[in-house]
Amino acid sequence: MKYDFDQICDRKNTNCVKWDLAEKIFGRQEVIPMWIADMDFPVAQPIVEALKQRVEHPFYGYTHPGQKPVEAVVERMWGKYGWKIDPEWVVFTPGVIPALNSAVRSLTHPGDQIILQPPVYHPFFPIVTGSGCQIVNNTLKLSNDEYNMDFDDLESKFTVHRGLPGSGNRIKAVILCNPHNPVGRLWTLQELEKLGEIIIRNGAIVISDEIHCELLFKGRKHTPFAAISKEFEQNCIVCMAPSKTFSLAGLEISNIIIPNPKLREAFNNARSGIMPGPNLFGYIALEAAYRQGDEWLEQVLEYLQGNLDYLLDYFRQKIRRIRVIEPQGTYLVWLDFRALGLGDQALKSFLTEKAGIGLDEGTRFGEGGNGFMRMNIACPLPLLKEALNRLETAVNDF
Ligand SMILES: Cc1ncc(COP(=O)(O)O)c(C=O)c1O
Repeated sequence: MKYDFDQICDRKNTNCVKWDLAEKIFGRQEVIPMWIADMDFPVAQPIVEALKQRVEHPFYGYTHPGQKPVEAVVERMWGKYGWKIDPEWVVFTPGVIPALNSAVRSLTHPGDQIILQPPVYHPFFPIVTGSGCQIVNNTLKLSNDEYNMDFDDLESKFTVHRGLPGSGNRIKAVILCNPHNPVGRLWTLQELEKLGEIIIRNGAIVISDEIHCELLFKGRKHTPFAAISKEFEQNCIVCMAPSKTFSLAGLEISNIIIPNPKLREAFNNARSGIMPGPNLFGYIALEAAYRQGDEWLEQVLEYLQGNLDYLLDYFRQKIRRIRVIEPQGTYLVWLDFRALGLGDQALKSFLTEKAGIGLDEGTRFGEGGNGFMRMNIACPLPLLKEALNRLETAVNDF
């Protein structure tokens, strides 16, 4: 089936966060919402059909996942990455954020420390502090329009914190984001190996948020952290989901893969009685997505590539003052507005009031986010064109 992603669909009045809350968030009705990470494309038809079929059976009581969604995850890991996982390793949760919360709580006691790599997905910060832990920043380095991990700084964080009187080694984990939101980096095998070696040598665990792992631009390849070696597999918690890939966030299902039985047990204890399982429609959608969604996904990825190419060309030709960090994965583009010399509040007002576009503020992503904005380009090309046009006019008038 050929999908038409050029069609601008009306998502207003559907309790859609991206569109229905845009006025509240940006203070202006006419803003084009290009913020929260979901797609303005209707989902794959096989998912719709599978949900319809289940809705027709009017019993929606307590539900367990059964074997089918587990098998779908096992097959997907093998098919996509050649990563052979045991069905027992798969834990379903209603989202990656609650899973990250449980992961942190299962690995730490209040007062412990967790490493984050800002600028990074902003809910990571309250996940750490809300668990009574401290954030240790291992800030990414930007050079030649590309972000890299700072391994010297990472090593030093362990040394410094180990050296604190009475503290022992209080760094219990790093939350890795791969592909990285918002900077769009897809970490290479070598980078992941280096990170893993440092973290594991220091007795910590890698919590690897790989929710964007199937959203890759041409020629890019994702490596699940745990698939690198048996040692890595035993020292990590991998968070994946069909929600970003297939635009199913409202159905609230994620597949968390925890090969180490002790870590899995601790994770399950931390969530027990607090976090429910996903709802029954989540399981149906996950299975349909992983088993029958690839025709749609191929077309979406091609479309996103087209949007990215259009955007890169547009900035190169017409909005030269704004630097674009070209993403390797995700559909999020990290834009450097520092050349305009605006403070963060003034930049926000400039974009909403002068340009009429709603982007995510860089400051929310922590250290290194000042002067930046994140733009979601998973929308019909005509809408993206309109947004870039507005931005060009505003920047030229500035
Ligand atoms: C890196 C990352 N992790 C987690 C999430 C949210 O996950 P969930 O909606 O499953 O809680 C997002 C959503 O944008 C994300 O970008």
